[in-house]
Amino acid sequence: MPSANMPLTHTTDLFAKALKGKYALGAFNVNNMELLQAIIEACEEEKAPVMLQISKGARDYAHPIYLKKLIEAAVSLSTIPIAVHLDHGDSFDLCKQCIDEGFTSVMIDASHDPFEKNVEVCRQVVDYAHKHNCVVEGELGMLVGAQHDDGEEGGSYSKGGCYTHPEEAVQFVKQSGVDSLAVAIGNSHGAYKFKGEQHLDLERLKAIKQALMEAGLGDYPLVLHGASSVPKDLAQKINQYGGAMGEDTAGVPEADIEIARRTGCTKVNIDTDLRLAMTAAIREVLMTKPKEFDPRKFLGPARKAVKELVRHKLKNVLCCAGHAFD
Ligand code: G3H
Ligand code: 13P
Ligand code: ZN
Repeated sequence: MPSANMPLTHTTDLFAKALKGKYALGAFNVNNMELLQAIIEACEEEKAPVMLQISKGARDYAHPIYLKKLIEAAVSLSTIPIAVHLDHGDSFDLCKQCIDEGFTSVMIDASHDPFEKNVEVCRQVVDYAHKHNCVVEGELGMLVGAQHDDGEEGGSYSKGGCYTHPEEAVQFVKQSGVDSLAVAIGNSHGAYKFKGEQHLDLERLKAIKQALMEAGLGDYPLVLHGASSVPKDLAQKINQYGGAMGEDTAGVPEADIEIARRTGCTKVNIDTDLRLAMTAAIREVLMTKPKEFDPRKFLGPARKAVKELVRHKLKNVLCCAGHAFD
């Protein structure tokens, strides 16, 4: 992934600075050129460090080489620190491929396995990753939502999941050797997280952070998946222009993310809000200008909408704006 004249910034460096500066790193999912440009332009303008995340689905959709070349272009055209992370790696082989390609960090998500098996799978990835200067994120507890629960037909509110236990988190980190831990504290993936306003279990987050600290693991980096806020105005705009999103859904309140950041969530994963911003902008153009067929005429506004959304997150939620060159 990195090359000599276009280096990435190592995830370890980004984590260390974020922990010291008490801000969170935005980990934004990348699937195509417009998303990448929007994220990078926003971070460049806000002088924010960034983690670009690539899922297995993104690799299947765009091809690893296209993504690699797009990221090389982004690195060469920007000045901000950029790390590249595998999101929800589901096997040792996928993690190994990404490590070999030069990703600065990988997530191995074996959170659906029993504790011992989760430890074993993470340990295997950690052993390989650490020999190759790569950081590993594990997950303990199970998020509700699309990743681990099919939910109901048509994208409804899914059930299941189980919260991360503070003492188990300590054992898990010690036994697996992972460098950062994704926690389950009521967070979930996708656009259908909560019905009405609900909150993260921030007391549990505090207890996890404290347990890790007391166990001698220091200011240990925690990761918040499912951190999209699912803004109502975006769902409404999508519906105004022909979409069919449930408008009685809600995401994680931004105020909760703010507290999570202050409690030690160093990496905050956001994908769904980008998708909503992009979809709303595309729908608006296609509905209001039905004769339009030049993709640039709807992908351009979509890119702009994602960029504005990312800028908002950097400045007002993650508080990483202005920290690129600390
Ligand atoms: O949590 C998952 C991310 O939103 C990536 O989703 O697997 O559809 O690319 P994906
Ligand atoms: P959202 O679906 O809330 O954006 O979460 C994204 C995520 O956790 C990627 O790993
Ligand atoms: Zn996730």
